Amino acid sequence: MTQDELKKAVGQAAVKYVKPDTIVGVGTGSTVNHFIDALAEMKDQIIGAVSSSEQSTEKLKSYGIEVFDLNSVDQLDVYIDGADEITPHMAMIKGGGAALTREKIVAAVAKEFICIADSSKRVDVLGNFPLPVEVIPMARSYVAREIVKLGGDPVYRQGVVTDNGNVILDVHNMKILDPKAMEEKINAIVGVVTNGLFACRGADKLLLGTSNGVETY
Ligand code: A5P
Repeated sequence: MTQDELKKAVGQAAVKYVKPDTIVGVGTGSTVNHFIDALAEMKDQIIGAVSSSEQSTEKLKSYGIEVFDLNSVDQLDVYIDGADEITPHMAMIKGGGAALTREKIVAAVAKEFICIADSSKRVDVLGNFPLPVEVIPMARSYVAREIVKLGGDPVYRQGVVTDNGNVILDVHNMKILDPKAMEEKINAIVGVVTNGLFACRGADKLLLGTSNGVETY
């Protein structure tokens, strides 16, 4: 199976975790796009969605799925999103699509975070995938210097402006042995909006697309 077929399989498998008459939290990325395609088939059974990006909002609306402002929603039962890397402890790197901050906000509200990913995303140690950090534009150089002190090599993602009007630094060459501590350290740098480590609030469930089928962890 191709990587995209594995993504499609987990995207389709995730709809069974969406409860009727609820609002579902929807992430961002190519795996989530398959989930949205599958969600569209049960759209009459749900109230609507809260989205983590303009890209997903547009796709949800194109199917006639109502998208709610998070401020008007008290509770989300599930949030379904992809990952760039995920460990057996369910810590993740996210933000390859630059949507990390809104993803982290929606994930914080949700009772359950279900990660959908193809098998290439499963790693023992995070950091091979460059860690995205969303930064207030005027703080870019300062934050980059502080990240160098933590042992990383930050690279400015040229030409990318996030949905929140900020920029992204991708941090290369970090072997992240303690993801919670690193998440807190980077978030404590003034000018950082958030970083793509989802360890303090990791996934609760993983649907992993493998050549043997969808495995659940
Ligand atoms: C978006 O900002 C990311 O967090 C995505 O969830 C992550 O990059 C996974 O993307 P794919 O599903 O496209 O691999």
